[in-house]
Amino acid sequence: MIMFHRRKFLQASLLSSASLLVKRTMGAVPEVEEGKTDQPIVISTWDFGQAANMEAWKILSRGGDVLDAVEAGVKVPEADADNHTVGLGGYPDRDGKVTLDACIMDGHLNCGSVAFLENIVHPISVAKLVMEKTPHVMLVGEGALQFALANGFKKENLLTPESEKAWKEWLKTSKYSPVINIENQKKDPNQLPGGPLNHDTIGMLAIDATGKMGGACTTSGAAWKMRGRVGDSPIIGAGLYVDGDAGAATSSGLGEEVIRTCGSHAVVELMRSGAKPEEACRKVVERIVKRDVERAKGLQVGFLALDKKGRFGAYAIHKGFTYSVKNAGIEKVFQAGSYFNS
Ligand code: GLY
Repeated sequence: MIMFHRRKFLQASLLSSASLLVKRTMGAVPEVEEGKTDQPIVISTWDFGQAANMEAWKILSRGGDVLDAVEAGVKVPEADADNHTVGLGGYPDRDGKVTLDACIMDGHLNCGSVAFLENIVHPISVAKLVMEKTPHVMLVGEGALQFALANGFKKENLLTPESEKAWKEWLKTSKYSPVINIENQKKDPNQLPGGPLNHDTIGMLAIDATGKMGGACTTSGAAWKMRGRVGDSPIIGAGLYVDGDAGAATSSGLGEEVIRTCGSHAVVELMRSGAKPEEACRKVVERIVKRDVERAKGLQVGFLALDKKGRFGAYAIHKGFTYSVKNAGIEKVFQAGSYFNS
């Protein structure tokens, strides 16, 4: 019986893949033609989202649940000590402590979140348990840690020697410059001691084979942030929002700007009103930029969106924001469109 269902599912995937029509628009943002969606699908922020997508795909392609898939997907960068903006090995706050933020949500508005969580490698799994096991949406700090430990998570040191070295380098000047993930600032490696590449949050959005939509978002937040600072990533409506009647959105970049605009919620509401994913992302980016154009020249925010038909798109303040897509017909990193192009 199980074999039969699996065969039917694989056949459906192949058929759907064959019928996929992809057209290119400006900025090389693809748009799946209306009515020709190819599901399941998983998309995530940045090129490092590729490895995360592949893990999520293992679950989606065998007919698994969307939340299991996005949890498994974002656990990849959370466990990657070489990724300095998510989980283990994340750059610490100005006091040298790695503090993590994460949330998860499905298309029926079920959601869970943790913020300012220390010493736990997989905050996304704690967020999922907050959703499943508590009457609450969000746990923070010491309470979130207690909850994690009570549920079998192990306390671990997340500050790797490499991140500690970068932090000590930063301490020499202690200059806090909240510049996040402007990829084309690679030319100024001193922007963040420890590495010229300053990628940011992973946000992942998916639709499973049953049509259920979900998303996850996880980060160690801004490097050298003030102790206690929480960004957009664990805030439902800011770093992530999913509503199966409209679509899903997530963000990467300077969280304060995303919180101000309830960014991901705004993107989803624009899609509900008829905007396509890239257009919805662009409109929210424009709101952020127009608040203070000069200031926006020095900061990065990118949104990624997936509508209920499986169409996807992204847009950022600055060039360089990438996103990864995986379904039966596409396995690719795309460059998002941007407000400033130089
Ligand atoms: N977007 C991640 C943060 O600002 O913390």
